[in-house]
Amino acid sequence: MTRRQAPRIAWGLTGSGHYLRESLEYIETLPEVDLFVTKAAVEVLSMYGIPLDRLRERHRVFQDHTASSVPVGFLYSGHYHTLVIGPATSNTVAKCVAGISDTLVTNLYAQAGKCRVPSIVFACDCESTVITEAPGQTVTLYPRPIDLANTERLKDHPYTTVAEDLAALKAAIDERLACLNVSFS
Ligand SMILES: Cc1cc2nc3c(=O)[nH]c(=O)nc-3n(C[C@H](O)[C@H](O)[C@H](O)COP(=O)(O)O)c2cc1C
Repeated sequence: MTRRQAPRIAWGLTGSGHYLRESLEYIETLPEVDLFVTKAAVEVLSMYGIPLDRLRERHRVFQDHTASSVPVGFLYSGHYHTLVIGPATSNTVAKCVAGISDTLVTNLYAQAGKCRVPSIVFACDCESTVITEAPGQTVTLYPRPIDLANTERLKDHPYTTVAEDLAALKAAIDERLACLNVSFS
C-alpha cells in the first residue's frame, strides 16, 4: 500500500435510503472520491436501482469482503485526507459512538480517529420526524430517542464533525477542502 498520488476523500456509504440519492449527486461534484460501501449499502443501492458498476465508472469502490476490513490500511499510508460517512445509518452512528468497528465503514471511522484523519459524518437521524423515499414509496419515520441521542453523542468525539443536513455536509466539506487548499472548481 504505497502512496502514489495526492490524498483523496474516503467516502463511506452505508445502508441508508434517506439522503442516498442526494449524497450520490453531491459526490459527483467533488474531485477524487473513493467509495467504501458496507454490505447493507450494496443491498440498499441495488433496491434503489443504483448498480455498483455505475459508481465504478467514476470512482474506486471498495467493498466489505474481509473480516479485518483490509482497505482501511490505505488510511495508514496517507491516501486519504478526510473521511466522509454519508448518509450514515443509525446503526453506523451507534457503532461509531460506542467504539465498535465491525464493518468497513465503522472500521474506517475508528482507524481515521487513530490516524487523526478528520471525519465528517452525515447522520440520517437528526429530527424526530423524517419523510424519506423508500423503494417505490414515500414513508414517514420517527427516529427513536436513542438514535437522536447517538447523533448528539457523536458530536463530542474528537476529529469528528457531524452534519445534520445536506447544506451542513457541503459546508463542512467546503471548509475542509479550503483548509487543505484543494480546488475543485
Ligand atoms: C431499503 C432500505 C432503506 C434503509 N434506509 C435506512 C435509513 O434511511 N436509515 C437507517 O438508519 N437505516 C436504514 N436501513 C436499515 C439499514 O440498512 C440496516 O440497519 C443496516 O444493518 C445498516 O448497516 P450499515 O450501517 O453497516 O450500513 C434501510 C434498509 C433498507 C432495506
